[in-house]
Amino acid sequence: MKDQLQALEKEALQKVEDASSLKELQDVRVAYLGKKGPITEVLKGMGKLSKEERPVIGELANKVRGQVAEAIDSKKAGIEAAELEKQLAEETIDVTLPGRPVPTGGPHLLTSIVEEIEDLFIGMGFEVREGPEVETDYYNFEALNLPKGHPARDMQDSFYITDDILLRTHTSPVQARTMNMIKGERPVKMICPGKVYRRDTDDATHSHQFTQIEGLYVDKHVRMSDLKGVLDRFAKQMFGEDREIRLRPSFFPFTEPSVEMDISCKVCNGKGCSVCKKTGWIEILGAGMVHPRVLEMAGYDPKEYSGFAFGMGPERIAMLKYGVDDIRHFYTNDIRFLKQYHQA
Ligand code: PHE
Repeated sequence: MKDQLQALEKEALQKVEDASSLKELQDVRVAYLGKKGPITEVLKGMGKLSKEERPVIGELANKVRGQVAEAIDSKKAGIEAAELEKQLAEETIDVTLPGRPVPTGGPHLLTSIVEEIEDLFIGMGFEVREGPEVETDYYNFEALNLPKGHPARDMQDSFYITDDILLRTHTSPVQARTMNMIKGERPVKMICPGKVYRRDTDDATHSHQFTQIEGLYVDKHVRMSDLKGVLDRFAKQMFGEDREIRLRPSFFPFTEPSVEMDISCKVCNGKGCSVCKKTGWIEILGAGMVHPRVLEMAGYDPKEYSGFAFGMGPERIAMLKYGVDDIRHFYTNDIRFLKQYHQA
């Protein structure tokens, strides 16, 4: 019996040693120390022993039991500590690691340019207005002194929806709409940014859809010199205080006289280079004094009121300011292009 117990002890301790999880350890406990385990079995057979042998075997059995139980407990503590250690290692957060950048969007270059121009004109007392992109033939052409069949309509190839409705070809209809709304009752000083559409074939300098900013100032005694002063401020603020402007005679049916404005070329400082095509000047916008007939159609008395108007293309301004060489970059939305112009 003594040998049996010692063999059992050795066997149990080995199993404890080999156990690698709490579950295995529990199995060992049940197998060796449980009610149906071999040690209990040995104790049950004690009745058959002699008086002298009984306490010896009883003591040994208890010792074996105690030793196995102790081995299990210490192994259990070991496994638990190891598991905790493992869990802590797995769940460790290194707070000193740099954060992962979260990509953020930003305003499109055209949006930034339009907002910059808006701020500039708001600073000169202009209000910002909007008008519809789907426009009537009346506001897009007729109210601007371009009756049906007028040859100058060909300057702006149009997308017609019906005979009388089209996608606006410029932001000038908002001039007519604004004046019409106020009906000659008070002065108007507004700018209008927005999308316009023309039946053009897209290339580096043409797009079937682009943006314009219209400007209109109607009041008593508005003169050409007021137009020149406003445009000069605009050019210097957008392109630098050292820029010069030049007004060249031009033609628009809704302004008389009409001009085109150039700014001195920044690349060559007016000496002539490939950017300004050797002229030293770069064309920026169209403008003029509002035609008396346009004032009249909108309800202003041209003997009392006069005004100026201008129209510019933010794409062209952005292209010149940032050296963008293809208008299509604004619309193909290549993230590498757009990202260069995010300020934040
Ligand atoms: N609407 C003209 C264009 O698109 C620009 C312009 C606006 C010219 C206002 C004069 C006055 O070409």
